[in-house]
Amino acid sequence: MDLTGQHILSSDQFDLETLDALYDTADLLVSVAKGRQLIRILEGAVLASLFFEPSTRTRLSFDAAFMRLGGAVSHTTGVVFSSIMKGASIADTARVISGYADVMVIRHEDENAIVESAQASLVPVINGGNGAGEHPTQALLDLYTIRSEFQCLGREINGSRVALVGDLKYGRTIHSLIKLLSLHQNLTIVCVSPPHLTCPQVYLDLAAKAGHRIEICADLCTGIAGCDLLYATRIQAERAGEDVLNLAGSGDFRITKAKLNAYCLPHCVVMHPLPRDSRLGAQDLAEDTKADPRLAIFRQSDSGVPVRMALFAHVLGIAKKIAPSLKNSVWSSK
Ligand code: NCD
Repeated sequence: MDLTGQHILSSDQFDLETLDALYDTADLLVSVAKGRQLIRILEGAVLASLFFEPSTRTRLSFDAAFMRLGGAVSHTTGVVFSSIMKGASIADTARVISGYADVMVIRHEDENAIVESAQASLVPVINGGNGAGEHPTQALLDLYTIRSEFQCLGREINGSRVALVGDLKYGRTIHSLIKLLSLHQNLTIVCVSPPHLTCPQVYLDLAAKAGHRIEICADLCTGIAGCDLLYATRIQAERAGEDVLNLAGSGDFRITKAKLNAYCLPHCVVMHPLPRDSRLGAQDLAEDTKADPRLAIFRQSDSGVPVRMALFAHVLGIAKKIAPSLKNSVWSSK
């Protein structure tokens, strides 16, 4: 599928062929993301970055991606300093800002805001996270990471056992990732969460319809045993409200070094979209796992820049012009 001029709202817009093309472009751009090569192919272009919910890595990696392609970024963060505080609708906001920019990234707590923005916008809109709905660009970089980790291990994604752990109800990265994983074959997807934070049925149905086996498990150690990929997530306290208060008594979901060693295979790939909750006793991927070579979390976050660069290149229709436009850098920090 040609992504030129498309809004990127959900990961169900992608098929394997489109992903292959996108990831080929991302491979080409890794050296640019690291500063070893330079490209100014988006010189003069403006990205409007509208993050109405907290963000660090997503926002900064979109910025870095656009700037390393030669473009400039114009921001607004939070609702406090935006005209939304004066009653402006998201549709009006998106239409106005689309007159100032060539592409827009929006993160908003309201799941419907992204579609309303896309309908009103004159330029492509990219979903940077819509409430508890989706986070398609995170899923794109997650699958890119999974491909590269599995390739290094000489393993196939098809046929593997994937444990999705944590807040599967409000965790939007999981929702988008299930859609991309479902494009593969013969997976066993184990949803490991407290019973009240289990994955919404719509995503499970989608995976089951694509022929994958779904297991629901409320016990962490049973759920992660023997998995090829462990994808951990943070409890979304800001969304879960009372559901989080109910967490006491629903089991221990802290993934520690001891549990990884006891239950996970030597080739298991451990991922997390970050941020992880590093506070003492948090039900998340524990800090004591940091020396484990199976932990791919920083290779995963590093993939954010080349994958988002590739997405901009495809949405703005310049992907084919990249290879001839690369120049070697006279400096490099990495
Ligand atoms: C995620 C998000 O915002 O959904 N963060 C991110 O973009 N990498 C995950 C989270 O906040 O838990």
